[in-house]
Amino acid sequence: MAKGFYISKNMGLAGLLMGAVAGVVIIALAAVYDKEKTKNQNKPVDGVTTVSPTTSSTLSTPKNPWEYYRLPDSLSPVSYNITLWPRLVVNASTGLYIFTGQSDVVFRCEKETDLILIHCNKLNLTLLSGHRVRLTGLDGATAPNVISSWLQVKTEYLVIQLKGKLAAGKSYRLSTDFQGELADDLKGFYRSEYTEDGVKKVVATSQMQATFARKAFPCFDEPAMKAVFHVTLIHQRGTVALSNGRDVETVNTTIDGAEVTKTRFEPTKRMSTYLLAFIVSDFAHITGSIENNNVLVRIWARRKAIAEGHGYYALNVTGPMLQFYEGYYNASYPLSKSDQIALPDFSAGAMENWGLITYRETALLYDPASSSVGNKETVLTVVAHELAHMWFGNLVTLRWWNDLWLNEGFASYVEYLGADYAEPTWNIKELIILYEVHKVFAVDALASSHPLSRKEEEVNRPDEISEMFNTISYSKVLYGSPCSRPSPTARFYMVLHFAFNNTVYSDLWDHLQKAVLTTPGMSLPHTVHDIMNRWILQMGFPVVTIDTATGHITQKHFLLDPDSVVDRPSPYNYTWMVPIKWMKGGVEREQHWLLQETDRHVPMTTAGSEWVLANLNVSGYYRVNYDTDNWERLINQLTVIPLINRAQIVDDAFNLARAKVINTTLALRTTRYLSQERDYIPWESAIRNLNYYILMFDRGQVYGMLQVGSSYNMIYQTFTVAEVLSFSHILQVYNQINAISFACRMGVERCRVLTSVWFREWMLNPDHNPIHPNLKTTVYCNAIAAGGVEEWDFAWTMFKNATVATEAAKLRSALACTKVPWLLNRYLDYSLDPAKIRKQDCTSTISYIAHNVVGMPLAWDFIRARWSYIYTEYGGGSFSFSNLINGVTRRFSTEFELKQLKQFKEDNAGVGFGSGTLALEQAMEKTAANIKWVAENQEQVMNWFSNECT
Ligand SMILES: *[C@@H]1O[C@H](CO)[C@@H](O)[C@H](O)[C@H]1NC(C)=O
Ligand SMILES: *[C@@H]1O[C@H](CO)[C@@H](O)[C@H](O)[C@H]1NC(C)=O
Ligand SMILES: *[C@@H]1O[C@H](CO)[C@@H](O)[C@H](O)[C@H]1NC(C)=O
Ligand SMILES: *[C@@H]1O[C@H](CO)[C@@H](O)[C@H](O)[C@H]1NC(C)=O
Ligand SMILES: *[C@@H]1O[C@H](CO)[C@@H](O)[C@H](O)[C@H]1NC(C)=O
Ligand SMILES: [Zn+2]
Repeated sequence: MAKGFYISKNMGLAGLLMGAVAGVVIIALAAVYDKEKTKNQNKPVDGVTTVSPTTSSTLSTPKNPWEYYRLPDSLSPVSYNITLWPRLVVNASTGLYIFTGQSDVVFRCEKETDLILIHCNKLNLTLLSGHRVRLTGLDGATAPNVISSWLQVKTEYLVIQLKGKLAAGKSYRLSTDFQGELADDLKGFYRSEYTEDGVKKVVATSQMQATFARKAFPCFDEPAMKAVFHVTLIHQRGTVALSNGRDVETVNTTIDGAEVTKTRFEPTKRMSTYLLAFIVSDFAHITGSIENNNVLVRIWARRKAIAEGHGYYALNVTGPMLQFYEGYYNASYPLSKSDQIALPDFSAGAMENWGLITYRETALLYDPASSSVGNKETVLTVVAHELAHMWFGNLVTLRWWNDLWLNEGFASYVEYLGADYAEPTWNIKELIILYEVHKVFAVDALASSHPLSRKEEEVNRPDEISEMFNTISYSKVLYGSPCSRPSPTARFYMVLHFAFNNTVYSDLWDHLQKAVLTTPGMSLPHTVHDIMNRWILQMGFPVVTIDTATGHITQKHFLLDPDSVVDRPSPYNYTWMVPIKWMKGGVEREQHWLLQETDRHVPMTTAGSEWVLANLNVSGYYRVNYDTDNWERLINQLTVIPLINRAQIVDDAFNLARAKVINTTLALRTTRYLSQERDYIPWESAIRNLNYYILMFDRGQVYGMLQVGSSYNMIYQTFTVAEVLSFSHILQVYNQINAISFACRMGVERCRVLTSVWFREWMLNPDHNPIHPNLKTTVYCNAIAAGGVEEWDFAWTMFKNATVATEAAKLRSALACTKVPWLLNRYLDYSLDPAKIRKQDCTSTISYIAHNVVGMPLAWDFIRARWSYIYTEYGGGSFSFSNLINGVTRRFSTEFELKQLKQFKEDNAGVGFGSGTLALEQAMEKTAANIKWVAENQEQVMNWFSNECT
């Protein structure tokens, strides 16, 4: 890597340690499958609809097996034969879009039982010879008669009681016929709509993760219940059907008078239900392949998007990335084809269905003519993430959702390697610090955080599962805990031993210990078990304080609000074993392990102007504080400090100041050197931190001073627009965009005029947009903010007519920039009307409005008034609700707002907050911290900025 980021030659023990882990994770996990399996039976059911992230479902123990959310271990599926027939026109008698289906599941009885529990949600079972189901014994086994069967709505089961017992070791086939609604709810088998050339088109598509396969057909819907799936789709003539495997037979036939096509797919590999995908559309595709390999690679999208070439970027990078991963995992791509498809309606960013990955259009399609370089980066990294899952996640799967962190954290890291391979000149790995580390530091510094690893029995209900999809699960794993620099030796075993199987992490450390023992030259101060458990079983992270006068170093649990109360006990008393890579006088020294609260007389003392820098390249998951003298030395010499550490020093200083560890002026002074900074990462780090000041003050009198002060302070570099357009390096382009948008945001007149003039030009000639794609977000937003209803309505029309999703997305966010209250209120109303704003975009639209200082109170009133509706209609998405709550509350800094927030929680306890549950706790804690921070810092900040700009 050009800039020596992360993996320096001298990786040190921590690097090796983290490195070895990820590979071993995968190896170790399946071994304990059987052990774990038996622990899973007696899961209590919770009768209360509210979820608290810290408590598990513990109410009265139910009597009946069908009242538990986890399947018993008596049956295990072997294979399914599924036929689904989605109707892409409204059913005349019901007025609904529907699908019908048949499913045969062959399962093995592991333990004698007279009860069959199989997941089934929102499906109407059609009677088969007088019964809901038909049970057949295989290989000479006799099936007992069915006494009764019913749908257990709450736990989402089809319950079947039998007259006699199923015999252990025998196999049976269970047949069902069913009908479901092809709703526009983005879950299970659902419908997406769009208009092409004036014609409305309907797509049947699916999203199974985490618990929605049961909404498409009755199934044992847990990730460890792997099976082989034989899929057949029946569809309207002229449409294309896709599923996980290659199609092997397509016939035209007539069923019930309807002329249809029947497409049969090759049987899948042994896989989990949450990775299935079924799609019927009239989409087009482009084709490629992995070099020297028979794997068929295709990109699918709306015909028009394909015809205009928007699939090529994704296609261009997929082949190389798959090839890279084949080498990285030392295993060939496990399937015969890799389809990726862009859908007009899709709740997450993308989903790694095995062999048929689904995306939002903005995450797969790139239009060189109208998309920005940022859009391109999104496509690159999302594709890299999903393709990484084809091995880790899909081939080797976690046993239960409590271990989601291993799955997602690993993919979130490997993603950068794949992306770097495909775009080696982008230095994409440098972005980890901004996209992952700072993001997770921000939430993990709260007392309402939680340990990375949850107990299996704490995660049962679908809403508890959906809560696992959070920043901590995705980003914390990169550092300090089983991070991600996998040892090459480990990769081969992963596939060899644990392909098509499931994993848990509990056996992990033992295996890693073996790896440490067999790696020459590697030794650790403690067992892997001792070291690693501290990072995953206790929440948060330490701040390490280094006194360069005495050489004493200490660690302490870092809390953003020093007065917050940590009521979650830790088995390790919130101390960690911290590997400290450090530098003195510009030279890297031998790594130090801080194993207890304080170490004395470490050789980190200095003389003269020599500085000490710790957490070199941010290789560890902790913040660093120094004695005042060393801070001064660092601040004075920031320009010679390694890139990633420059960004880190700024971020550490601002956060330490927020936590009252150092004073605010010191933090602000770390930004002075920026006049000489040419790299994007430190600038972005500073802007994000100043952004906090803006949010805290943009409703008050300090803001004026801040505005003047920071535009003076931040716009040292006089960027010219021409540079933004011509720079070839992606991070430099980002830097230029930042400079311009910050200037506009701070009210620099020249910027306002420029953006308004360009926008006007476009309004006069709508067919010719003169605005450079890289500047559209900034220009649209500022022009709409400066303008009135005319600008807004023009942008709305352009939004409705946009045929490129990235263009629509930019306009949708810019529409939230207006300062006109009635326009904002109207826009809020639009956000809940699926004919105006797609359901997938509802919560982010409300968040955009809340980012606007005028829109914030309007958005808050709006969601408070309609929470129950929003929650029922839009509550399924994994990340959307936490983003919504974060978005709306990020400015909160008054007692009154805190009171409202508490009231909101109380008022809606019966409705719930889904994936926003944790975010709500975090919001209350952050608000309380903000209140204090503003009171204590207002004056200091004002003084500093007024001194700076005189
Ligand atoms: C999955 O792993 C378990 C435990 O290692 C093993 O007993 C089982 O046979 C494996 N199953 C398959 C299908 O490989
Ligand atoms: C499932 O379908 C396959 C292929 O169509 C067929 O060979 C097999 O017998 C079917 N299995 C069951 C259980 O119906
Ligand atoms: C399922 O049955 C219920 C009750 O009979 C009915 O209201 C609903 O419309 C049916 N759903 C479908 C998709 O047919
Ligand atoms: C099925 O019918 C469609 C449309 O009528 C036609 O384009 C297609 O070639 C037919 N396929 C087969 C396998 O006959
Ligand atoms: C895809 O690759 C081809 C061949 O290298 C290149 O000409 C084309 O510009 C690339 N397209 C995109 C969108 O990157
Ligand atoms: Zn993922």
